[in-house]
Amino acid sequence: MKISLRLVLVALSASAFSLAATPPALSAEAVHSLRGVDAQVADQAPEEKFNPGKRPGSQKPIPRTFEQQPPVIPHATENFDEITLEENQCMTCHGPEKYKEKKSPRIGDSHFRNQQTGEIMKQMSSARHNCVQCHVPQVDAPPLVENTFKGVPVQAKKNP
Ligand code: HEC
Ligand code: HEC
Repeated sequence: MKISLRLVLVALSASAFSLAATPPALSAEAVHSLRGVDAQVADQAPEEKFNPGKRPGSQKPIPRTFEQQPPVIPHATENFDEITLEENQCMTCHGPEKYKEKKSPRIGDSHFRNQQTGEIMKQMSSARHNCVQCHVPQVDAPPLVENTFKGVPVQAKKNP
């Protein structure tokens, strides 16, 4: 008698447990995989995006999002030579020697600061040599999420 009662209790508690542990019903449509359902399918190459920028000198700077943001590059960059240890075509227009003649914005004041000592140097800091590490060209891509974001109205300084 005692044994059978215990068995009934065990059976009852087990069924209560299994009820509680039942996962909520999942509908197949609710789960989306970015890759797709078949793991064997190769990843799709992303669609090539178009850079709407034109020849330097033919467009306005793009408003910055926040103060101290490295401004984005408004012009096309496809035809420029790659930045190497010896060569930097960006400096032929933006460097302190030629910027006036080339009617280009001069590299930022911060680019002349020695990062260790904080001292302002005559030459650009070598830490700024690889411009495209901070300044990025643009592509014509729709925003991922519709939004009404507006940056702070910080604009490029006029050439001194
Ligand atoms: C032939 C000259 C020339 C070359 C080469 C050039 N630029 Fe420019 N750049 C300009 C001019 C002119 C502007 C002003 C906007 C415009 O007309 O496109 C500009 C604008 C910019 C701006 C925006 C500045 C701001 O305040 O918003 C950045 C950043 C920039 N260039 C970075 C670069 C980088 C990085 C390279 C090298 C990959 C480069 N540029 C090569 C002439 C040049
Ligand atoms: C480590 C990041 C970094 C690198 C590398 C860098 N910049 Fe900048 N750049 C910035 C930031 C941040 C600003 C905005 C603050 C300022 O003006 O210094 C800026 C500003 C500028 C401006 C606008 C200046 C103004 O007064 O409005 C130009 C033009 C520019 N950079 C060109 C270049 C070029 C050309 C190179 C490569 C030789 C380069 N930068 C390398 C971060 C960088």
